[in-house]
Amino acid sequence: MRILLLVLTSFIFVLQHSAQTIIPIESSTHAMVIHADQDKRLRQVYFGLRLSNTDEYKDIVRQLRYEGTNEDVFNHIYTPSGTWNIAEPALHILHADGNPSTELEYVEHSTTILDDHITLTMIELLDPVYKTAVQLFYKVYQEENVFELWTMIKNGEEGIIELKKYASANLYFRNNNFYLTHYHGSWAEEMQPETQLLTNGIKVLDSKLGTRANLYAPPTFLLSLDSEANEEEGKVILANLAWSGNYRFDFEKDRYGNLRFIAGVNDHSAEYRLAANQSFETPHFIFTYSGHGTGDASRNMHRWARKYRIYDGEGDRLTLLNNWEATYFDFDEDKLVGLFDGAKTLGVDLFLLDDGWFANKYPRNNDRAGLGDWQENRNKLPRGLNYLVQEANNKGIKFGIWIEPEMVNPKSELYENHRDWVIRQPDRKEFYYRNQLVLDLSNPAVQDYVFGVFDTIFTKNPDIAYVKWDANSIIYNAWSAYLDRQRMPQSHLYTDYVNGLYKVLDRVRLKYPKVPIMLCSGGGGRVDYGALQYFTEFWLSDNTAPVDRVFMQWEYSYFYPAIAMCAHVTDWDKNASIKYRTDVASMGKLGFDIVVDDLDENDLKFCQEAVSNYQSFSDILWHGDLYRLQSPYEKPFACFQFVDSTKSRSVVFSYLVSNRYRANYSVEPVRLKGLDPAKQYQIKELNIYPNTVSPIDSTLHFSGEYLIKVGFNPDVSANRRSVVLEIKEIE
Ligand code: GLA
Repeated sequence: MRILLLVLTSFIFVLQHSAQTIIPIESSTHAMVIHADQDKRLRQVYFGLRLSNTDEYKDIVRQLRYEGTNEDVFNHIYTPSGTWNIAEPALHILHADGNPSTELEYVEHSTTILDDHITLTMIELLDPVYKTAVQLFYKVYQEENVFELWTMIKNGEEGIIELKKYASANLYFRNNNFYLTHYHGSWAEEMQPETQLLTNGIKVLDSKLGTRANLYAPPTFLLSLDSEANEEEGKVILANLAWSGNYRFDFEKDRYGNLRFIAGVNDHSAEYRLAANQSFETPHFIFTYSGHGTGDASRNMHRWARKYRIYDGEGDRLTLLNNWEATYFDFDEDKLVGLFDGAKTLGVDLFLLDDGWFANKYPRNNDRAGLGDWQENRNKLPRGLNYLVQEANNKGIKFGIWIEPEMVNPKSELYENHRDWVIRQPDRKEFYYRNQLVLDLSNPAVQDYVFGVFDTIFTKNPDIAYVKWDANSIIYNAWSAYLDRQRMPQSHLYTDYVNGLYKVLDRVRLKYPKVPIMLCSGGGGRVDYGALQYFTEFWLSDNTAPVDRVFMQWEYSYFYPAIAMCAHVTDWDKNASIKYRTDVASMGKLGFDIVVDDLDENDLKFCQEAVSNYQSFSDILWHGDLYRLQSPYEKPFACFQFVDSTKSRSVVFSYLVSNRYRANYSVEPVRLKGLDPAKQYQIKELNIYPNTVSPIDSTLHFSGEYLIKVGFNPDVSANRRSVVLEIKEIE
């Protein structure tokens, strides 16, 4: 019996090359099919809806006519270079004898059922001349239709080989047209979308910034097949490289008009040497596919992320008051303790102390000094962090802290004492980003130091309940004294930096599994599904102007669920009402970054009620499904709806994004989604500003069918720029 159970729970089959080797990699709805040709080259022959009879996959190959000559091989599943290939390679190796050519022949594959929801297929390929092996992994999350791909390269040669390009994934999509939506931006302008029809040739998206690699372009894209997908319709792929460093995506349209796609670490200045028998694991590439538009695709991505990827993705989160914009560096103990009352008054869970609390020889009174010296500043905090933690706890709120342990100001004791821990060219002028430099995480001693920053704070102050982990600088002058001492190539630095960071974060999570940690990088400069394995949430942007945020939150929401998206009410745009700012922040993980004492009576009352409302519906935002009802790019207002898993509760956020005459109100009902047509619902407006009256009659009942087919007008107008509606089933 036990044996039978084991076989059922972990069913592995291994197959070797036969006349007709077909490898189907299936989710519950879709399949990727791989076929070995007569030269044992593995080629992707299908990506589409899954067939009920797996036997029929073999017939696909007979329908394809592009296998005549070598220059037709565009669909290899891990295209090598230097032999038959004439397209962009996924793998480029300089062998131990200096030969730059690689061929990869199919050896075997196995599929393991990891549990009821996940399968893992491993395909082994081998260079017949050099014996260097490549294992390709395809992990499939069945219900979410999410595919996670990565590669393991093993040096089977006697000497050192050099990996010049070592992608994570190489895919092939047959179709007519491909529309790529990708993102660009900068500080305070994250996630600016751009969509284009891919034409012949190669479109490359990449980053060479090292640390906060996303600053100009995040490793995230949306690809529509045939025509531009919308929320309900269209074939669409949402993808992310789970890697917090330099990356590269190649989109190559081949001569059949199909799309070759390659994703991985950026090969720029990143040659990686492997000694004999050594293996290298690439970052993981993650994508989901839907034939039903971007809404379905992103709900799948969100479910997957919450369940399998984001740290504590299915847990709860803390609301908070942050002091960054309220004080910047200008505070002391008394001022902070005074602000704690504000957190209490608002009703949030936690006070988050931001930058500026540390360093003595070079006090951190601005961003030009002190970074790296993680002792409490004695003038500002004479009684140390512990006193603040106690004071906050006495007032019934938790206490959290900001750190930026990977970086250093040249004006710091750390820099004076450990210059060889800093990424810098020893004989060249230093270049700074926000007056700082990056520490060399390829060096195990630096990894210990960075872990130590976190560990020491927590050892001394075990009651700290939250961390904001920042990383503001990109890497200039990429050079490591450590790699030099080890006689390792400098081109390892970018890769070893990220792996060093992950090692530190592994240690942090092993010792501190419960602490929520916000991923911040001078705003949203480092957001990806590699980092989010360690972080409970992330900071989208320092730009908290609410209209900008509506657009940014819209874009981020394709890829990341609301539970992970920190959104704070600030004074960045004081022209916007406190209601508008709060309503926008209430759609993410709510926080405040204001001086609560400066709020007038009505504003304060409003905020208190909004916090309490947020607490009443946050489980829907954090754990429910998102429907983007109205795009702010198409109409002058945006509308987002969250629905719980039982379809009995929902919350709808509407935001006006235009000031133009006649474009400043919602003229028609917005069709709701995700509700049960057979249920009856009641709609009530929340977050109503004191002394105003809602035009929405909460005594009316509507069927789910009506709300889905006809819709509901949130009555957004110049006087009601944001509207929050709660929809509840009538029992
Ligand atoms: C970065 C962050 C901000 C704030 C400052 C502190 O810019 O994005 O939220 O923490 O650093 O210096």
